Amino acid sequence: MPPVLQLRDVSLSRDGRAVLDRVTLDVGERQVHGVVGPNGAGKTTLLDVACGLVRPDHGDVVRRGEPLPLMRHRDLPRAEIARTLQTLELDERRTVLDNVVLGADHQPRPGVLGALVGRPRSSEDPALRERARVVLDELRIGMHARELPASLPLAVRKRVDLARALVTNPSLLVLDEPAAGLSGPERDELIKLLRSLARRMSVVLVEHHLDVVSRVCDEVTVLDDGRVVAHGPFDVVRDDPAAAAAYFGQAAG
Ligand SMILES: Nc1ncnc2c1ncn2[C@@H]1O[C@H](COP(=O)(O)OP(=O)(O)OP(=O)(O)O)[C@@H](O)[C@H]1O
Ligand SMILES: [Mg+2]
Repeated sequence: MPPVLQLRDVSLSRDGRAVLDRVTLDVGERQVHGVVGPNGAGKTTLLDVACGLVRPDHGDVVRRGEPLPLMRHRDLPRAEIARTLQTLELDERRTVLDNVVLGADHQPRPGVLGALVGRPRSSEDPALRERARVVLDELRIGMHARELPASLPLAVRKRVDLARALVTNPSLLVLDEPAAGLSGPERDELIKLLRSLARRMSVVLVEHHLDVVSRVCDEVTVLDDGRVVAHGPFDVVRDDPAAAAAYFGQAAG
């Protein structure tokens, strides 16, 4: 079986400066792969490239042995990829349930014709609304389905965002700082949740909270100034001198 996702020798420049510099990374089936590094290291850019949202100047992005084409965010479900952003972007005028339903709105309809026209599913589709409810329940925020996101605490809002990604039924979940702003107990809950999700999908996770990284990730890539300075299990990379100099020496856990 080819890896779920491979970045091979990926480089990308912006404004004449290397943002990613010969990055190579493999994500296996049901593996949680952490990406850590200082601010500006290129982590979010790496996620954009890994999802096909940005084409690298050099190198390949390979999804299960096939080149990943350039995609728009709404195309991601077709590649069974779901991505959350570093900044929460919920639709504050819609209920939690409608926010989640909209996450799946651009899934093509089943069947040959639907696949051809790629028509969005209606947000009124009962099967889709039921699926959104199931995901909200799984994330234990089903009781907030009819509320507006603005009235809810950050930890719940972040789960709504996650539910929006999960409703598309991804086999690869890509998360940009899912623990940012969460308290210790809230992070413990997230850790449990991510572990349980990893039983059925692969996860790529950018995160500054090292408690989350150490307890969830099977493998960690340390990025500094666009380059991979270390990779391997957390306990190994934490003790790596280059990774300590680049990041762990100053990172807060
Ligand atoms: N569209 C762009 N145009 C120019 N420079 C960019 C662009 N996007 C990112 N960069 C630069 O690329 C570098 C990496 O940015 P990126 O957002 O990937 O870092 P990051 O590791 O996610 O940082 P943080 O931890 O702060 O989220 C930064 O120096 C940033 O200024
Ligand atoms: Mg970032």
